[in-house]
Amino acid sequence: MRKITIAVDGYSSCGKSTVAKGIAKKLGYLFIDSGAMYRAVTLYCIHNNIIRNGKFNDTDVVIAMDNIHMEFKLNEQTHQSEIHLNGKNVEKEIREMNVSNFVSPISAIKEVRDRIVILQRKFRNANGIVMDGRDIGTNVFPDAELKIFMTADENVRTQRRWKELDAKGQKVTMEEIKNNLGQRDYEDTHRKYNPLRKAEDAVVLDNTHMTLEEQLNFALKLVQEKAES
Ligand code: DC
Repeated sequence: MRKITIAVDGYSSCGKSTVAKGIAKKLGYLFIDSGAMYRAVTLYCIHNNIIRNGKFNDTDVVIAMDNIHMEFKLNEQTHQSEIHLNGKNVEKEIREMNVSNFVSPISAIKEVRDRIVILQRKFRNANGIVMDGRDIGTNVFPDAELKIFMTADENVRTQRRWKELDAKGQKVTMEEIKNNLGQRDYEDTHRKYNPLRKAEDAVVLDNTHMTLEEQLNFALKLVQEKAES
């Protein structure tokens, strides 16, 4: 089968990374979680007082980008690629609520996006890549052979996120999560530069009532069709 580029976009917490990782594992493709990069920038801004008292100014964030070095490294135990920020593994820290609360406005800054998109495009290779995010099919890889647009019922997404955070020992209420998801979806779809939207040629995957196995079968069938066409 030909190796292709796969873009998985969609709303917050609808399981994009889980599906993207599953495809990558099955096919031996590289998996890149593009949201992790925006989260790492946000974490840096929190740690370095660029976000202070719930506020920041865009210029400070853009200047800080010169001091931010991000790379994905394979965790030998989990066989997952994990993000490192200036040499430190921050895979867990970037998922915390304080980062989730600021990542949408940080990712809306044009210069931040421009820099990150350059890095994201460099991951493309001849051995196949699956990248998940918000603008992969519309902006990062508009010529991706396969584009999947994921969505799910808001309450189901809230419950899934709560379970995920609870399993990691993070105590957050359902209400807090629901508000965060709603707020991020609104900001991500309404921002000026490369907002979240379904690419015209993307296939919709609504996984509200689907098991992971069903989702992977659905996606892998699409990959097969594209890779053999
Ligand atoms: O996928 P995620 O929930 O970890 O992404 C966090 C935020 O990063 C998301 O709310 C918006 C931003 N993001 C983006 O603007 N473009 C992407 N390709 C990926 C994420």
